[in-house]
Amino acid sequence: MSKQFDVVVIGAGPGGYIAAIRAGQLGLSVACVEGEAYDDPKGEPRLGGTCLNVGCIPSKALLASSEEFEKIVHHAEDHGITVSGAKIDVAKMVKRKDDIVGKMTGGIQYLFKKNKVTLVKGFGSLSGKVDGGFEVTVKGKAGEEKVVGKNIIIATGSKARHLPGIPVDNDTICDNEGALKFGAVPKKLGVIGAGVIGLELGSVWRRLGAEVTVLEAMPTFLAAADEGVAKEMQKIFTQQGLKMHMGVNIGEVKATKKSVTVNYTDAEGKEQKLACDKLIVSVGRVPYTAGLNLEAVGLKTNERGQIDVDAHCQTLVSGIYAIGDVIRGPMLAHKAEEEGVMVSEIIAGQAGHCNYDTVPWVIYTSPEVAWVGKTEQQLKAEGRAYKAGQFPFMANGRALGQNDSQGFVKVLADKVTDEVLGVHIINSHASDLIAEAVMAMEFKASSEDIGRICHAHPSLSEVVKEAALACDKRQLNM
Ligand code: FAD
Ligand code: NAI
Repeated sequence: MSKQFDVVVIGAGPGGYIAAIRAGQLGLSVACVEGEAYDDPKGEPRLGGTCLNVGCIPSKALLASSEEFEKIVHHAEDHGITVSGAKIDVAKMVKRKDDIVGKMTGGIQYLFKKNKVTLVKGFGSLSGKVDGGFEVTVKGKAGEEKVVGKNIIIATGSKARHLPGIPVDNDTICDNEGALKFGAVPKKLGVIGAGVIGLELGSVWRRLGAEVTVLEAMPTFLAAADEGVAKEMQKIFTQQGLKMHMGVNIGEVKATKKSVTVNYTDAEGKEQKLACDKLIVSVGRVPYTAGLNLEAVGLKTNERGQIDVDAHCQTLVSGIYAIGDVIRGPMLAHKAEEEGVMVSEIIAGQAGHCNYDTVPWVIYTSPEVAWVGKTEQQLKAEGRAYKAGQFPFMANGRALGQNDSQGFVKVLADKVTDEVLGVHIINSHASDLIAEAVMAMEFKASSEDIGRICHAHPSLSEVVKEAALACDKRQLNM
């Protein structure tokens, strides 16, 4: 006899585990199915998905460690501090990252208990419609088990996209999984793809001493970001020593146990070779639906491998929802979480809401890049009349005091109504500063609203206020 639940969630990434917790909070009976052990020493399924195990959290831990190292080696001197003989112990750094991951994934086990979420260990596969809902067959270490959900939430996430002819072994040629656990700093690191992973993980290993070369197919850098931001960041990354070749065409890649040679054609059409000790392939991610058996419930994936859903994440089959990386929209943990909350609330009979216009983006390099809403090029393409206010951190006392003066805040507002349409930030604390902009946009604030709010002095947030004031050319400190 199968166990019956109001909701069965497949996948315990940030989409799935948050959906399960919210469902539990709302008094629904809920099970969450997860089968991936990642690097668990006992081979037990680990909760938290890509984000906690091989994505957001471990990458940010390594970014923090490498940033500390770079500050000590290169910037302590600016404060009058002399440090000699600073060394990095890569094994210790990686262990610190693993401990953080262990703590966080363990924390979800606790949250499941607290919110009465039943964890079903194993990989789930849809077996069809039955009395009382949809049946999911779960295959795990302990054998096979069947659960039935009146509602199903598919939250199976994504996997790294690989390129034909470039075999990832996660030792010499790595995707995100291998790139988060190098045993030593490579002398020469090659990166294919100047996207978020390439820039973040490329920065980690560059700060620790690797010579990093990034090969990017597109002629323009960070095409999704505001053009002004992308231009400034390309300059900053280049100054930092990241070598970037845009508009390349990757050819044959030859690997031995110890080295890789990437043949490519550069933007001028010349044949080039990049020899490196390790290669990271970070050319995007693809939705993960292998083994789900969507056909059993009358579903299939679209031409991009995604499960089609409506604005409320409902699939074509009533009672089956899909959220996170496996559906349309940006592949971001907080977007998956918002959808998880929305769907559980809808199942519980509430309204459920997710505002896709205010999903923030962050690139956690140094400085960080963060934005929300429209870019200038999008507004121009839409023909929308707008005004822009920009203010540099260079003119902010707090930023100067903490050696944080690179970058700026740019506020874009409607020319007529003054409604804030987009905010773009380059600064080491951009990921935190962007929250004010998201809040402002959620409440349909005007640039004048931000300009009239009292911001603490001295603080980096004053730059957000000044950029808002600059929309009407009335910034105070420049
Ligand atoms: P996932 O996190 O991929 O989780 C899906 C889970 O479902 C997995 O655990 C998988 O094992 C499980 N699963 C799959 N199939 C089955 C099945 N049949 N049965 C049972 N379980 C199954 N996003 C950010 O917002 N900020 C960041 O800083 C950030 N950094 C990142 C860094 C890296 C290196 C990477 C790779 C990604 C990063 N992301 C970041 C993206 C973020 O990790 C994803 O957007 C997010 O994890 C998606 O959540 P999800 O729940 O949809 O899927
Ligand atoms: P990405 O989509 O950010 O970047 C991939 C890059 O590879 C693009 O610039 C693309 O033009 C390039 N590319 C594609 N094919 C290529 C080829 N054949 N040769 C050379 N270049 C090629 O993907 P990435 O960096 O792999 O990250 C995947 C996703 O994970 C991101 O889109 C994002 O959603 C998420 N992520 C989010 C982070 C954050 O929020 N800070 C951090 C890391 C990942």
